[in-house]
Amino acid sequence: MYPASEIYGGFANAFDYGPLGSQLKLNLKNEWWKRFVVGRDDIVGMDSAIIQNPKVWEASGHLGSFTDPLVECKKCHKRFREDHVEEAKSLISTPPNLPSERGGKDGLTPEQKEMLVCASGGEHDFAEAKNFNLMFKTFIGVTEDSTSTAYLRPETAQGMFINFLNVTQSSRVKIPFGIGQIGKAFRNEITPGNFTFRTREFEQAEIEYFVEPSLDESKKWFTYWLARWKEFFTDFGIKDENLTIRAHDKSELSHYSAGTSDIEYDFPFGMSELAGVAQRTKFDLEQHEKHSGIEQKYFDEANNKKYIPYVVEPTMGVDRATLAFLVDAYDESDGTDGREKGEVTLRLDPRLAPIKVAVFPLMKKEGMPEIAKEIIADLRSAGVATFYDESGSIGRRYRRQDEIGTPFCITIDFDSIKEKTVTVRDRDTMKQERIKISKLNDCLLEKL
Ligand code: GAP
Repeated sequence: MYPASEIYGGFANAFDYGPLGSQLKLNLKNEWWKRFVVGRDDIVGMDSAIIQNPKVWEASGHLGSFTDPLVECKKCHKRFREDHVEEAKSLISTPPNLPSERGGKDGLTPEQKEMLVCASGGEHDFAEAKNFNLMFKTFIGVTEDSTSTAYLRPETAQGMFINFLNVTQSSRVKIPFGIGQIGKAFRNEITPGNFTFRTREFEQAEIEYFVEPSLDESKKWFTYWLARWKEFFTDFGIKDENLTIRAHDKSELSHYSAGTSDIEYDFPFGMSELAGVAQRTKFDLEQHEKHSGIEQKYFDEANNKKYIPYVVEPTMGVDRATLAFLVDAYDESDGTDGREKGEVTLRLDPRLAPIKVAVFPLMKKEGMPEIAKEIIADLRSAGVATFYDESGSIGRRYRRQDEIGTPFCITIDFDSIKEKTVTVRDRDTMKQERIKISKLNDCLLEKL
């Protein structure tokens, strides 16, 4: 990942995903979609517009309630989130004792230091907190006034609520069922930071799961989805001990939620929210019914009843998940596992790894590059992301691939010419097996 707009000095807290990063993130989104949309008969997918009629945000409560309390220093006029300033202050009164990589000797990040020390000297002199709406405004068409104001969506969820009727009428879904969506969301965060953890433009993967309208049903599905959500992270390699489930207390709940639990990950900067599951009850559909004047009810044929369903919402940040998978996979050798001390292996699940197979000719002659290129062409036609490398020693080529998480490396040597076999080396065990070239595709596809 690169700092966005880097040649112009960057653009605070925005990042671009490069060749490997974009593939890693895409693999993650594809696996999510395969598991939760394609892999289930009770969930359908959708892709809604980012800019919707502003009435959507009036109805959803985002125009009125999607705010953060902000404090402004009367001396330097810098603004910070009030809760973040309180958190930074509490860290000084109770020394956090964090290791230096988590924010310097005193345990404070540069952002937290800025919250405590005014640029004009001494402490900040904060005025009363004011509420600040986090939605990005834009204008539609040529005039720039209140009649043309529109907003970039702050969550993908509303696109699914406002299409509830379209989906129920066009896809024959029956309650309980869900709608899933992956897409960009935008929030004018006051204190973004910690790399891609909190940015102003980010991606979400969300499901709105519609159930019969009772708190018991809602709680049952809430428990179900919390387990499925955590499982997604552990099945793709995140260590269970690095995840925690934390229930929100009443003061933290979003304006739409009757109960939320976060799945937190032990990031290098501390335990922080990675994903969450909320009980949104009938809040959103009821609001859209009121504001649009169009009934948002479901006819339950099995029970001969008409009602607004309750909603359980599992949600995750795609950028945060990408970051967590990267952090969790990062492994520096202590020198006792056959690698040299300090050598890095990215132990990504093969399904997430940006490159699946690297192919090396031992020499740049004797027909070895030609065999390597044929193998690459075969793997590519089977949809496998490959990389060709003919420079440096084989050990060096392995190390380059270990660092980017490539699970398998193939070497073409003299036996490849004589016996039509190659070696396949496993990133994690470093073991090598000899495999017939004719069996290579099937063997690798099975491993992947
Ligand atoms: N629809 C519900 C919703 O939007 P949220 O907790 O505000 O709930 C969902 O956001 C997920 O989106 C979070 O769990 C987090 O992973 C991710 N997220 C939220 N704000 C973010 C930001 N500024 N930068 C990166 N990811 C963010």
